[in-house]
Amino acid sequence: MDAAATVPGIRIDDWRPHAASVDADVAMLAEILRAVVYSGAGVSFVVPYSMDDARGFWLDKVLPGVRARTRRVLVAREGPQIVGTVQLDLAMMPNQQHRAEVCKLLVLPSHRRRGIARALMVALERVAREERRTLLTLDTWTGSSAEQLYRSLAYVVRRGILRQLFQRTARADDELAAAVGTAAAEDGLGTRAAERALERTDPRVN
Ligand SMILES: CC(C)(COP(=O)(O)OP(=O)(O)OC[C@H]1O[C@@H](n2cnc3c(N)ncnc32)[C@H](O)[C@@H]1OP(=O)(O)O)[C@@H](O)C(=O)NCCC(=O)NCCS
Repeated sequence: MDAAATVPGIRIDDWRPHAASVDADVAMLAEILRAVVYSGAGVSFVVPYSMDDARGFWLDKVLPGVRARTRRVLVAREGPQIVGTVQLDLAMMPNQQHRAEVCKLLVLPSHRRRGIARALMVALERVAREERRTLLTLDTWTGSSAEQLYRSLAYVVRRGILRQLFQRTARADDELAAAVGTAAAEDGLGTRAAERALERTDPRVN
């Protein structure tokens, strides 16, 4: 995958773990996750969080999906070292095959503000198109640096839509209002993809 032009010295690869490299890769990914958890970011885990916990996440929750091709993982490398990563979860329900969820955008604290997360996201949108997904969704913290990044990539907050969908099933939850609905910005997908997806949504399903 060619995103090398985006950040000097950084290469972005589709993660295809092989027997010879998987242990080293998982150790590097675990180190990033652990560092991010301890930096206080809201990425679903709480401290104390050990290297074994972090390794277990990659081995048990991520690797099987990568192998089954229901999850794509991108890694940003500086030389052999993994310094950032992001995932696209493709395992959606049968009537939501146009959607995919962006998760675990993580950059090593020592490598931040160099454009690595942005490069990962741009590359991930290319992967989403390859997978024929036209609507990307994600959750993030309101007011976080990640929110600024997503907004700068033309991702839009869809609070009203989420509230409306969940009220239909009497599962209204204010926290869900913080979720962000997103759409790839190029190739005419834009925010119209989100609107199209909403129009296609069958209220009987929600
Ligand atoms: C959020 C995160 C992935 C950003 O990684 P990064 O490689 O430093 O981001 P980039 O250098 O590509 O920055 C892209 C844009 O994001 C925004 N941004 C990133 N870090 C920021 C910060 N600390 N403060 C304000 N804006 C910030 C800016 O708009 C920035 O663009 P700019 O540098 O042109 O101003 C990284 O800080 C991280 O791993 N955080 C912890 C995990 C996390 O919160 N992940 C998101 C889960 S939803």
